[in-house]
Amino acid sequence: DMGGHDTYMHKEICEQADAVDRVLRGRIDDRFSTVHLGGLNLDAREARSVRRVKILGCGTSYHAGLIGAQMIEELARIPADAEPASEFRYRNPVVDPDTLYIAVSQSGETYDVLAAVQELKRKGARVFGVVNVVGSAIARESDAGVYVHAGPEVCVVSTKCFTNTTVAFALLALHLGRIRDLSVADGKRIIEGLRKLPGQIEEILAQEAEIKKIAEEYADARSMMFIGRVRGYPVAREASLKLKEVSYIHAEAYPASELKHGPLALIEPALPTVAIVPDDDLLEKNRAAMEEIKARSGRILAVAHQEQDKADRTIVVPKNEDELDPILMGIPLQLLAYHTALALGRDIDKPRNLAKSVTVE
Ligand code: M6R
Repeated sequence: DMGGHDTYMHKEICEQADAVDRVLRGRIDDRFSTVHLGGLNLDAREARSVRRVKILGCGTSYHAGLIGAQMIEELARIPADAEPASEFRYRNPVVDPDTLYIAVSQSGETYDVLAAVQELKRKGARVFGVVNVVGSAIARESDAGVYVHAGPEVCVVSTKCFTNTTVAFALLALHLGRIRDLSVADGKRIIEGLRKLPGQIEEILAQEAEIKKIAEEYADARSMMFIGRVRGYPVAREASLKLKEVSYIHAEAYPASELKHGPLALIEPALPTVAIVPDDDLLEKNRAAMEEIKARSGRILAVAHQEQDKADRTIVVPKNEDELDPILMGIPLQLLAYHTALALGRDIDKPRNLAKSVTVE
């Protein structure tokens, strides 16, 4: 049942405020400025002994993992990174007992992720799942985990589950942080930020008519470049994947700082750039990157916390805490991908050559 929407993708994009509400529900502990994650089975001493976090997933879940790694480093100060599960399992990785491994999956059935989990467990590692589908194979194989509670996601292209997964990682990062060195004040600040998310998501969704116009303006692009830095870069990567999957427009994502090392050669009016420009300590750097693109007559669409004079168009999103901004900045770009695909007459819920869960190697 699409509940009045013309596609599941649209329905699922529009459900995100409720979905985020669900992942937060019953988990916030104001007394200690932390969160409770029932399925974690990790006592404080064990949490303190984690030396490293390695996050594994595929596609959009991998991108959510990149954001999760950044949050865990920032809030818990544990070195963390994300890697495609398929790469990890084929490179005979060094499995380390002080590393916490986290498998991320919407379906909980993606074979490459499941196989990575099984290999890790065979080698004695501790593996957590950040999974949407309750009781799925990856949820069952993991030692413990956090359910994402996005609700059923039908569209092949993942949207609400991505957002909820990033929120689940924020909860995990806050939880680990508060057991380690994150202060009460910072814990409070993050909790307040989390509570603002559903309302801010509604504010973004209210801009749909404007985003549709922008999509129609950019739908003639031959290819699109997505750029961001640090917190913005995984957002750029996910937005680039979304656009490719659903509109079939070629897209690339680059760290803004890498432009001058090659991709700047591609910039011309037929290759517009989408710049992720959070109002954080890298704002000036991002403005400089937009300047470089402008100087080469590139068109720029900025996703930012305030109107950007270097961009042709800006989608303004509400500001949250710096660490949580990535959760929100991808949402207008889901709408951009959706409306671009609609303008081009694509089969939105079932893009060619793709399946919802990839249960083969
Ligand atoms: O079910 P999973 O999260 O494990 O799926 C992983 C990827 O196959 C999935 O995210 C894929 O990239 C989607 N088509 C993204 O929109």
